Amino acid sequence: MSRVAYVNGSYVPFANAAVHIEDRGYQFADGVYEVMAVRNGRLVDLEPHLDRLDRSLAELSMAPAKSRGSLSVVFDEVVRRNRVTDGIVYVQMTRGVAKRDHAFPDASTNSLVVTARGTPPRSTSIIEEGVDVITVPDIRWKRCDIKTVSLLPNILAKQKAREAGAYEAWMVDESDRITEGSSTNAWIVEESGDLVTRQLDHAILSGITRMVVSDLAMRQQRRLVERPFTLEEAIGAAEAFLTSTTSFVTPVVRINRSPVGEGVPGPVTRALYDLYESHLSGQVHD
Ligand code: PDD
Repeated sequence: MSRVAYVNGSYVPFANAAVHIEDRGYQFADGVYEVMAVRNGRLVDLEPHLDRLDRSLAELSMAPAKSRGSLSVVFDEVVRRNRVTDGIVYVQMTRGVAKRDHAFPDASTNSLVVTARGTPPRSTSIIEEGVDVITVPDIRWKRCDIKTVSLLPNILAKQKAREAGAYEAWMVDESDRITEGSSTNAWIVEESGDLVTRQLDHAILSGITRMVVSDLAMRQQRRLVERPFTLEEAIGAAEAFLTSTTSFVTPVVRINRSPVGEGVPGPVTRALYDLYESHLSGQVHD
């Protein structure tokens, strides 16, 4: 079966799916996006993803291209037409097509693109053995809380990780504190078992997985401390892990080649991984 994408009101064959060359997303990265997980054909955490999308749009003074209800109908339809059972939905909204001029156009209709694809199950070695991260200077702008498609620093960071044989690059600010990964949130576990992750501010994206994992951890009576942590602290931590819609909970066992804790996935990370897996399968209820 050939793949199908939703582009500005139509379901089109993936191979022909296109937007105009003067789309402001293409020319200026003037747009926002979301990535949502699909598990057993069902969108995971749809509402918080839509909330974050609305917030990103509002921060950029963009009107939503569709109501939340109509958007979720499109998501379901794209999932169905692509027969995705386990995978992701990608949604992107830009300020639309207009003659190239930095300031907002007087009149333009936002562009909306939705795709879905199946993803193979993750290799069990990732959870059994954990992953390496490297660190890079955080050279991004001061509004990383907006989920914009303007991702060049993140791309350069991920490429550095790839070249170093690492899974992710954690970004370090001018005070030597880790902000987040190029496409993930960063966490450490202290000797006491307390979780530490940076507080929500303009330096990081408010990850939906971060929110869900925080909630699951607190339900297990685990203490969560939201504060910045340094690279040195991370290397000296009992455990470290990262979270995102596509990486779930992934143990980090080495940072810049230095082992974290015992250099193997720790018990707190493994417990959170299991809880998050149950959440994905819809087995955790309020
Ligand atoms: N990335 N931080 C950044 C910079 C991200 O790009 C992401 C998500 C996260 C984690 O957010 P969430 O838990 O809501 O996925 C944190 C997505 C998956 C991506 O760009 O593909």
